[in-house]
Amino acid sequence: MNLKGRDIISLDDLSDGQILYLLKKAEEFEKIEERGGCELLKGKILATLFFEPSTRTRLSFEAAMHRLGGRVIGFSGKEGTSVRKGENLADTIRTVENYCDAIVIRHPVEGSAKLAADFSSIPVINAGDGAHLHPTQTLLDLYTIKKEKKKFQGLTVALVGDLKYGRTVHSLSKALARFDANLILVSPEQLRMSPEFVSKLKRDYHVEIKEETKIEKVIKEIDVMYVTRIQRERFPDLTEFEKVKGLYKVTSLLLKNAKEGLIIMHPLPRVDEISPDVDKTRHAIYFKQAYYGIPVRMAILACLIKGE
Ligand code: NCD
Repeated sequence: MNLKGRDIISLDDLSDGQILYLLKKAEEFEKIEERGGCELLKGKILATLFFEPSTRTRLSFEAAMHRLGGRVIGFSGKEGTSVRKGENLADTIRTVENYCDAIVIRHPVEGSAKLAADFSSIPVINAGDGAHLHPTQTLLDLYTIKKEKKKFQGLTVALVGDLKYGRTVHSLSKALARFDANLILVSPEQLRMSPEFVSKLKRDYHVEIKEETKIEKVIKEIDVMYVTRIQRERFPDLTEFEKVKGLYKVTSLLLKNAKEGLIIMHPLPRVDEISPDVDKTRHAIYFKQAYYGIPVRMAILACLIKGE
């Protein structure tokens, strides 16, 4: 399966087989990472262009590249770059592609990663474009579910929180529907996933999708709970944010009614939507999930740059 030279803008660009192949490769790279890494990408350079804040995505891409023996250049925030002088994205990309072997980009504007890929002759990886998509987060989310649950088909997954502005849930809902999981969308009324997006999910994948406003109502029936932060920075009007702030919270009390094997995931960062007393329960796996960013991103970089 050769993915050399490909972009990852949306998981729609990859076949089921290619997604499963990347997950299988990630398992191999997890073992390699545990042994301290390898030299597979020695001499190669990755550029990380982050126009928006990031901790896990940027650092795990960078750590993954280092673990593969490669090097990293890049920036975090426009400050100190020519973007501050008014340079457009296309020109930035046409310049940076001469300095490296692959580009990871995070940008607040939907469609920006696609635009970058159109102007680049080297692989471009979308690390989040506005509220739109975050495909590599989805790959690590799928990897986490596969490790913990051994399957996707027939699982009941609740996506909880900001389903309107959250990009992780847009990418993940499509992927889970594609692999035949049942979805329950749990959010306050104001943060519902757009009806057009939900109808398209149902139409394209023929899966069962329920919508709820309270997690308490579905806690007994779910196998995976995927909690998300309210995306404060994407609200056009902050008074709207104030109205929904603190409207949902997962606590250890709520988990008394959960299935024994329920796993709780979160792309992180968390603000107040999961109370700290949940961290020590057997259900909480969000920090392990964050670790899985390393082997998954090693697999992505190895496949795109080297054709593993
Ligand atoms: C997410 C993102 O940036 O979309 N974080 C991440 O990549 N792990 C989720 C978020 O910011 O809430």
